[in-house]
Amino acid sequence: MNFDVASTDLSRFEGDLLAIPVFEGKLDDVPFRDVDEALNKRLTKLAEIESFEGKGEQTLTYNPDGKLGAARIVLIGIGKPGDFSPPDARLIGVAAARAAKACKAKTVGVALPKVAKGRLDAVLEAIGCGVVLGFYSFDKYKKDAKPLSVESITVLGKEIGGPRKRGAKARLEWGTSIAAAVNRARDLVNGPANEVTPEYLAEVAKAIGKEGGIKVKVRNRAECEKLGMGLYLAVARGATHEPRFIHLQYEPPNGRAVRTVGLIGKGITFDSGGLSLKPAKSMEEMKCDMAGGAAVMSAMAVIAAAKPPVRVHAVCAATENMPSGDAYRPGDVIQGMSGRTVEVLNTDAEGRLTLADAIHYIVKEGVDEIIELSTLTGACIVALGKFTVGAMSQNDDLIKRVLGAATVAGEDLWRLPLVPRIGKELKSEVADCKNIGGAWGGAISAGHFLLPFAGDTPFVHLDIAGPAFSDGPWGVHPKGGTGVGVQTLVEYVTRTVPEKFGKK
Ligand code: BES
Ligand code: MN
Ligand code: ZN
Repeated sequence: MNFDVASTDLSRFEGDLLAIPVFEGKLDDVPFRDVDEALNKRLTKLAEIESFEGKGEQTLTYNPDGKLGAARIVLIGIGKPGDFSPPDARLIGVAAARAAKACKAKTVGVALPKVAKGRLDAVLEAIGCGVVLGFYSFDKYKKDAKPLSVESITVLGKEIGGPRKRGAKARLEWGTSIAAAVNRARDLVNGPANEVTPEYLAEVAKAIGKEGGIKVKVRNRAECEKLGMGLYLAVARGATHEPRFIHLQYEPPNGRAVRTVGLIGKGITFDSGGLSLKPAKSMEEMKCDMAGGAAVMSAMAVIAAAKPPVRVHAVCAATENMPSGDAYRPGDVIQGMSGRTVEVLNTDAEGRLTLADAIHYIVKEGVDEIIELSTLTGACIVALGKFTVGAMSQNDDLIKRVLGAATVAGEDLWRLPLVPRIGKELKSEVADCKNIGGAWGGAISAGHFLLPFAGDTPFVHLDIAGPAFSDGPWGVHPKGGTGVGVQTLVEYVTRTVPEKFGKK
């Protein structure tokens, strides 16, 4: 797929499909007006008949029958102008891609919506990102899968001609790089657990390392044992597929880092529940239990390309959670790298055990702050639904910055309170803590479990159990793996280089 920008008149654009974003109630404004006039107001009439007002998620296709350079038009509703932001621009790209897929277009033009000059670059990035997200499909295992027909995407706007063209194109392409990382995470999540094993994730990490010049260190069971990772290895004990503790490290080009960020992603390649076995229905989607790890690893590829002046450690303690004669048991008391002992009461609360060792490990690497993503609790889905990430932290400043990045990235994060009484329910009679708490507030309870392992290091826990895997298409996402978190992480880590990418 080739991406470009051009200042061509919309009515002169030659191609298979022209996508035109329309603000709600603004059918008398550009870019719609330019094309409508070239068509003797036919678009206005059609919009009236079809009740197209430009509301978000409304689309309308039209065949100009040779009266325009474009063979087809799709109008894309983008809602009220006052509410418009980069996440809405991403939806323009997604809608354009879906329309292009539906009509098998090869050459696609996307008109720029009318936005303030200062927002142009962010909108271009978001459109580029949206287009690549919108073309995503997972058909690796289908014999009759058809390759994408699309060849070129051109964003059209009078504002991006002449000297502005190069910068505009670069920003558009940057958006497509971010989306490629999201799609890579989606592929890993959608990949079945019989293929996407801990070993497979380690190979992907090595490939990402090669591409981006990132250091990658993979540790096997014996090496983790030496480091004392008894919590992570307790989970791995029942698994036949060997665990892999994956560590990627990005160094800024000149060796001078303004800070060191730690990223952690849960990497359970399949969560059967272990001896506390899940019922069949709940197990169906449990190949998605490494979505946090997939997000963190994929984000590293773009972070390396952006070259921010920040050192980044990314860790994924990958393993399956399986029952076996040698699996860890309810009642076992185990101890990890930090020395804290844990009484296991439910082997299905495994994610927090693997994360505890990963958190302690990354703290010892000397990170200034940690962002951790995990499909950690069904309780978080009960609390917030399938579209929202539950965010928890002991540090107001860090969580505010992460929430800010998420807003620009178009990902919905909501802070949950770390209610102290819920934390107390993790007290054990025989060990330093239990791995499950009381009956209520399970997402918060899990957050409390993780906190002591971070110590004083500012720590944000993102429970992505809801949005990591979708029941059907919504927003920029297809059914299945969404790649949630990638965009927030990339936005967070790279926004410290405004001189390169411009202010949002
Ligand atoms: N991987 C699950 C959480 C999950 C549930 C992710 C649904 C995605 C969709 C996690 O390991 C788990 O099993 N959590 C238990 C915790 C409980 C035993 C305290 C849960 O949520 O039931
Ligand atoms: Mn589990
Ligand atoms: Zn799990």
